[in-house]
Amino acid sequence: MNQKIRKKIKRICCIGAGFVGGPTMAVIADKCKNLQINVVDKNSKRINQWNNDDLNKLPIFEPGLDKIIKRCRNKNLTFSTNVEEEISSADLVFISVNTPTKIKGLGAGKASDLKWVEACARQVAANAKGHTIVVEKSTLPVKTAEVIKNILESTNFEKEGSTNATFDVLSNPEFLAEGTAIKDLEYPDRVLIGGDCKDAIMALNEIYLNWIPQEKILHTNIWSSELAKLTANAFLAQRVSSINSIGALCEVTGANIREVSRAIGTDSRIGPKFLDAGPGFGGSCFKKDILNLVYLCQYYDLNEVATFWESVIELNNWHQSRIANLIVKKLFGTVSGKKIFILGFAFKENTNDTRESASIKICKDLLSEGAVLFINDPKVNPDQIENDLKIKETKSLLNEDVKNKSNNDGSWCFVNQVSCGFKGADAVVILTGWQEYQKIDWGNASKTMRRPSWVFDARSVISSKEITQHKLNFWQIGSGN
Ligand code: NAD
Ligand code: UDX
Repeated sequence: MNQKIRKKIKRICCIGAGFVGGPTMAVIADKCKNLQINVVDKNSKRINQWNNDDLNKLPIFEPGLDKIIKRCRNKNLTFSTNVEEEISSADLVFISVNTPTKIKGLGAGKASDLKWVEACARQVAANAKGHTIVVEKSTLPVKTAEVIKNILESTNFEKEGSTNATFDVLSNPEFLAEGTAIKDLEYPDRVLIGGDCKDAIMALNEIYLNWIPQEKILHTNIWSSELAKLTANAFLAQRVSSINSIGALCEVTGANIREVSRAIGTDSRIGPKFLDAGPGFGGSCFKKDILNLVYLCQYYDLNEVATFWESVIELNNWHQSRIANLIVKKLFGTVSGKKIFILGFAFKENTNDTRESASIKICKDLLSEGAVLFINDPKVNPDQIENDLKIKETKSLLNEDVKNKSNNDGSWCFVNQVSCGFKGADAVVILTGWQEYQKIDWGNASKTMRRPSWVFDARSVISSKEITQHKLNFWQIGSGN
């Protein structure tokens, strides 16, 4: 067994240049000018986008990210596909690769697919030199660190001529939310480091200490750290399902969910955050992480606990179908051939990410009823929408008189300018809370829509007064008024 000779961290390699790896490493590079940060990814298209001179063409849209990239790129921050080379020269390797829900085999539909994490562990084992700290940044099921350790130690042991690589494994889950990633990374509520080796914990601690006060850097054992990440997401998602469930009750009783949220949110034990009713939670994390938690509970025979958390997802699925159904009902029970203008496709504002977006489910339901959807989003491109809806865009719709369409098959097209989507529309549906949707001139919009015209506001971005004075019918999430 080689002796672990620990050294000061100077070079960091991050495997995975995605929504987490890219922004997280950019902020570390910005805050720690003495460190060299090399982000690697096997996806060369993504790496080329990170290296694009035009900062509007970075693969990820996050407010403030472009400025940091401009300051650090090709100084102490690089993006490349040189995975093996950058691992071999790193003192610390972050694993920040995707961990989606398994689609087949044991645990399909619930357990996280760890094949990318395992591949990384094998790459690190094969290429690392000297002592290397391996940090789980990806969200992982409890005890994955054990798998990583096992692979590192056994693969390294088998190496021909056995190199002198030794390892410590830490868990350092990421709590950033998309759309506010830079702020969340610069001013986190806390940073969590889980591990059993004090020296390794302190080496990572020292990096964060460059901009985060010590009292916000928590140390735990490795399993608590892994479980805390799943639990945080489960609690947040649970709040969204809770408020959406009460929103449905408000709609039938004459109460208003914004008033209820304000009333309960002022209770300091409950707090005001994550109480906005909406079209149901989306994003790449909530559903996946809860399913993972459910799988873990079932594995340990805690079936009541599993059922409790599974209901958070079931409520969310029901809620999204409920919105699509009520749109159809309000439009006289049919949307076949009717033009519906969809505002927002990203799963929340200030991001171009559409993973698990409520818009996907709601648009698919409307398309299956034969609707003609005109879709706008300020940051999502039409190729992504095509990919998500799995229906080709019909660009010619833009030049057709849709209101006379007798076609029963659903179809859609992308609308670049919000002001160009209203003409002949039977309904407008707001699904993402982009700020610009608050500035729509409803007087002008209503003049060109087909009557009776509807506005469905699933994000509470507009006031009912503004809408109803223009003779538009109005439905707002959680409003029974
Ligand atoms: P992502 O899909 O955007 O990025 C992952 C990247 O890893 C991809 O570009 C992929 O090509 C690359 N990759 C996979 N295997 C590789 C390998 N062997 N070598 C080189 N590159 C490889 O994923 P993401 O959204 O950044 O999420 C990463 C992890 O962070 C997940 O576990 C996720 O649950 C967690 N997380 C995500 C968020 C979020 O907001 N997206 C927040 C917190 C935690
Ligand atoms: C989440 C966690 O917040 C973050 O800590 C973790 O690291 C990754 O997963 P993210 O999915 O990026 O972040 O966004 P988040 O702000 O949590 O929103 C998730 C979904 O819930 C979005 O669809 C959002 O619109 C919805 N939401 C959120 C509501 O409907 N109401 C709310 O009050 C808050």
